Amino acid sequence: MSREYKGVFIVFEGIDGAGSTTHSILLSKWLKEQGYEVLLTREPSENQIGKLIRHLLYKKVPPAVDALLFAADRILHLHEEIKPMLEKGNIVISDRYIESSLAYQVAQGLDPTWVLEINKYAIQPDMNIILDIDPKTALKRKEGKKSTKFENVDFLKKVRGIFLERAKIKNYIVIDTTEPINKVQEKIRKIVSTLLQRKLI
Ligand code: TYD
Repeated sequence: MSREYKGVFIVFEGIDGAGSTTHSILLSKWLKEQGYEVLLTREPSENQIGKLIRHLLYKKVPPAVDALLFAADRILHLHEEIKPMLEKGNIVISDRYIESSLAYQVAQGLDPTWVLEINKYAIQPDMNIILDIDPKTALKRKEGKKSTKFENVDFLKKVRGIFLERAKIKNYIVIDTTEPINKVQEKIRKIVSTLLQRKLI
């Protein structure tokens, strides 16, 4: 899909526990301090489809149902919240987007070509940042919280493998998040500053 907007769309991806929520919040705060208008959002979104998905995170359903709901949530969220902000020339940061569908739903056994096909009406972000960590360490960070159907070491190993494989093919930025939060955030800020200079916003 064509990308006719003035803003900048940045996405954080990675396995559960990799830190996409923490780093998207820290980046958003920092960019606001620099005077940018920023929409910080996440998938599953806050709309009705997103709510249904959150309910299904604890229930086994056919993977194609997950894939279709994530794609529907994404396209609606894009239409209602993300695109209007990008058209105004602002920054949008999303905690997860298309690459999560490619990693998680393909790890569930679905055909990647089909997953891409059902996401073809979702615009491509300007930057995908893949936060990388080994699944055991990641799940330790989530201890004490109720686990979703995706949060087990073997499944997340597959998911991580797909994220890294896609990053290689698509030249995405991969950041090791076993390092302390402030070090990781510093790296992210540098990369994003370069992107913003290039985009002249
Ligand atoms: P998570 O990001 O942990 O949400 P929360 O904001 O509630 O902490 O949960 C979303 C889960 O859904 C996570 O395990 C990844 C998975 N997921 C997919 O399987 N496909 C997708 O397309 C997306 C966006 C997420």
